[in-house]
Amino acid sequence: MSDRKPMMAGNWKMHHTHLEAIQVVQKLGFRLESKDFDRVDVVICPAFTALRSVQTTIDGDRLAIGLGAQDCHWEKQGAFTGEVSPLMLAKLNVKYVIVGHSERREMFGETDEIVAKKLRAVLGAGMTPIICVGETLDEREHGTTEEKVKGQIEAAFQRLPAEEAARCIVAYEPIWAIGTGHNATPDDANETIGVIRRHVRVGLGDALADGLRILYGGSVKPGNVAALMAMPEIDGGLVGGASLDPDEFARVVQFGAR
Ligand code: 13P
Repeated sequence: MSDRKPMMAGNWKMHHTHLEAIQVVQKLGFRLESKDFDRVDVVICPAFTALRSVQTTIDGDRLAIGLGAQDCHWEKQGAFTGEVSPLMLAKLNVKYVIVGHSERREMFGETDEIVAKKLRAVLGAGMTPIICVGETLDEREHGTTEEKVKGQIEAAFQRLPAEEAARCIVAYEPIWAIGTGHNATPDDANETIGVIRRHVRVGLGDALADGLRILYGGSVKPGNVAALMAMPEIDGGLVGGASLDPDEFARVVQFGAR
């Protein structure tokens, strides 16, 4: 067992209005006990429109839930219609920002270069990036999973000072497992996360690799989370569908404690 504290981060994607979000967070706060928060870092990443409401709920109810965003722009400000800057998020007490989620890479044309810029901007604003990497089904079937995730990690961490890299969190999300109900087997997820950690070890050294939290994402549910979390390389989950319901997400957090 490592001394990396497990993390369960809920990525709500484009779900929950701010009114729904307040209710979900309050219910989650009711379900979870302080011993849960002691064992697991709990993060919620709502839509931009719900960030303020979730932040005031967390503060008002003194919940130990970390606030996360699902994306941001790489510039501090400027003529970028429709975009949200990292400084705006930091001002809202956002602590984590997901960067390079496969849905953004695949549907919104985010390249490794854009992901690297966003990662640096998030770090520059004092927040923690959750960098997503993962292969498609086609890549898996062609045996190029390792190559794909190593390339994405290299692109993200390239020329990043070690002290900055140490502030990052990685999420391995095989694209074929996202929203499909087919999670990677714990062994497969453990193996690929092990590949990522070894690659980081080669590039950035033992201390950084040993301290880096690497989450698994892709159909994490109350029924499979314990087996995933029993794996030595898996430090937590980036949870989509199962984070939308407070009872379900509370069970994920509680089963995920180790
Ligand atoms: P699901 O848990 O719904 O498969 O989503 C995973 C995900 O993409 C989290 O970022």
